[in-house]
Amino acid sequence: MTDALATLPAPRHPDPADAPALRWGVLGPGGIAADFTDALHRHTGQRVVAAGSRSAERAAAFAAAHGVERSHGSYEALVSDPDVDVVYIATPHSEHLEHALLAIAAGKHILIEKPMAVTAEQARRIVAAAREAGVFAMEAMWTRYLPQTDIIRQLLEREALGELRVVTADFGGHVPYQPESRLWNPALAGGALLDLGVYTVSWASFALGAPAGIIAAGTLAPSGVDEQAALLLSSAGGAQALLSTSLLAGTPSLATISGSAARIETDSPFWGPSGLRVFRSDGTLAAHWRDPYGRPHRDGMAYEAAALARYVGEGRTESPLHPLAEAVDTLATIDEARRQLGATRVE
Ligand SMILES: NC(=O)c1ccc[n+]([C@@H]2O[C@H](COP(=O)([O-])OP(=O)(O)OC[C@H]3O[C@@H](n4cnc5c(N)ncnc54)[C@H](OP(=O)(O)O)[C@@H]3O)[C@@H](O)[C@H]2O)c1
Repeated sequence: MTDALATLPAPRHPDPADAPALRWGVLGPGGIAADFTDALHRHTGQRVVAAGSRSAERAAAFAAAHGVERSHGSYEALVSDPDVDVVYIATPHSEHLEHALLAIAAGKHILIEKPMAVTAEQARRIVAAAREAGVFAMEAMWTRYLPQTDIIRQLLEREALGELRVVTADFGGHVPYQPESRLWNPALAGGALLDLGVYTVSWASFALGAPAGIIAAGTLAPSGVDEQAALLLSSAGGAQALLSTSLLAGTPSLATISGSAARIETDSPFWGPSGLRVFRSDGTLAAHWRDPYGRPHRDGMAYEAAALARYVGEGRTESPLHPLAEAVDTLATIDEARRQLGATRVE
């Protein structure tokens, strides 16, 4: 008898270099924009050709440091650059709505850093504008495009785990309290849920879809943002997701999906290139896959950029692996959790 769980499917897009090349413009040259640009240039044929900042000096410094041809001293100038195909929006979450609408109005495709916006309502406005303009729009939930995620996706498509019952995910990091900084400042949409928890809510959605029930517990920082939260999400069919996020403590960054026939446990971190193990219902290990591709940490963002380039080449306006409606639903879950926690909302 063959052991179906012991033979894992191969990931379907292991090489991000095989996607058609687009010309990218980076809007908001901060920390993640630097890692994103370097990941694209190291691992793909995508090219960041322009950087846009609120300051001409910061734009020029970013361009010089990351091999980018042109710099613009305003976001308006960046989105008006005729030689930019797609704008990567890498500003704080609080600015995503304004900057997404700016790029869409200029007729550009967009990749918006996670979370897509601060609230589901804001995200719906971005979706409506993108659809109206006919441009491609995607939330940068890069986990969806990793090789390990595609293996898990194929196992779920085959119903290899049986009936799904329990899903878990955690993402916490110790971030020193600085009330003015992006993660702690309500004016910049700080808080654990929007910044780190979004990965766990998206993981639950990937496995179970949008929840029918949401229970949240947690604590708030003096600034009013959520500093730590636990979520219990339940599906109409009775499956449950247990999620945890924190700005106070580093947690393992592990995720699981357990069904009546088998379970999957990711290696750490579940949100970046790592690996996964599959266990049979009797608890024995069926398979352990470790990412062999050599694009560790944030270099894994190369996969989402390549996926976007393929979709644009196919004439799509959104990602089939992470539809816009799902990004909106994820924010609706976070909206409700923040409401239950009493977190300060600045929209
Ligand atoms: N995918 C991931 O793994 C990952 C990791 C970290 C962050 N992110 C996401 O990326 C986004 C940016 O995070 P980050 O850590 O890169 O932030 P960051 O280092 O603070 O950079 C944000 C940039 O946005 C610009 N900006 C525009 N309006 C701003 C404002 N009101 N306040 C501060 N900066 C403003 C700034 O550039 P100029 O002023 O020069 O224009 C700044 O350099 C967030 O949405 C976050 O969730 C994703």
